[in-house]
Amino acid sequence: MQRIAIIGAGVVGTAMGYLLKENGYSIVGIGSRTLESAKRAKELIGEGEATTALGATAKKAEIVFITTSDSAIENVCIKIAREGGFNPGAIVFHMSGALSSEILRSARDVGANIASLHPLQSLADVKEAVVNIPGSYFCIEGDDVALSMAQKIVHTLRGKEITIKADKKPLYHAGASVVSNFLVATVSFGLELFEAAGIDKEDSLNTLIPLIHGTMRNIETIGIPSALTGPISRGDTGVVEDHLRVISKERPELLRLYAELGRQTVKVALEKGTIKENDAERIISLFDKYQESLKE
Ligand SMILES: NC(=O)c1ccc[n+]([C@@H]2O[C@H](COP(=O)([O-])OP(=O)(O)OC[C@H]3O[C@@H](n4cnc5c(N)ncnc54)[C@H](OP(=O)(O)O)[C@@H]3O)[C@@H](O)[C@H]2O)c1
Repeated sequence: MQRIAIIGAGVVGTAMGYLLKENGYSIVGIGSRTLESAKRAKELIGEGEATTALGATAKKAEIVFITTSDSAIENVCIKIAREGGFNPGAIVFHMSGALSSEILRSARDVGANIASLHPLQSLADVKEAVVNIPGSYFCIEGDDVALSMAQKIVHTLRGKEITIKADKKPLYHAGASVVSNFLVATVSFGLELFEAAGIDKEDSLNTLIPLIHGTMRNIETIGIPSALTGPISRGDTGVVEDHLRVISKERPELLRLYAELGRQTVKVALEKGTIKENDAERIISLFDKYQESLKE
């Protein structure tokens, strides 16, 4: 049985602690900035000492997960290293998508093995995270010993792994954030237009959910670009111009967003082959015209 310390008792740390315990690992300690969070995590995980003494907690473990907010990971790691908290040969992970394993170099300098292990998932709270993490893709990067432990953990969680070069992590994370966070932002953009159209705010999201699910199913089953539908995909410039006209009248501050997302949509439509270069040029020139009009 391998002993694990969780440092950073937030959503991901708590969920990982719970899942690892359920899968036969021993959670020996949960360290956090506040004792309150550590205790709450301990209650959910069902074992481990709750504490704010980070170095002493890490010292009890062979595997240390630093699951603090991204901005704290490097300094927390330095602090634990200075406190002599990393056992020689210990494995230290962080779970950030944006940062490489290099930010854990203070642990490597004292003889630990380091890697980043990023669950490619949107984890809004502990309950959701416990359901969503198993079976997810994990992006892993780091040194060989830590990587092979990362693979073992991913396998335990019935996940799948992708590997990445350390210096490409910010780009990878930008891609993941666009897909997850901008999807939420795109839905909220649509909701603003529904509101401007006088559709009851309470009902708006409910009415759009089947459309969102249908689109997701298409992306899943036939992929991109095939999943693209709508006026840009059909080369219907009249409808696109209607959209631009009403948005510039009713919600001019949203016009730029529509046009920029539209430009990406034109790229997809070209790839799908449902529009030709000249259709694309006509639509792009509409975006240019309406975006220019914003400057007047
Ligand atoms: N949420 C997601 O969707 C998601 C997905 C993939 C990866 N991740 C990664 O998972 C990691 C954790 O994210 P999260 O969503 O779990 O964040 P979170 O819920 O905000 O939890 C972060 C925890 O870090 C603790 N912390 C902050 N500074 C600390 C310090 N100096 N010393 C000790 N503990 C400290 C906080 O403790 P206190 O409560 O005690 O103040 C907090 O509970 C991040 O690297 C994030 O990028 C998140």
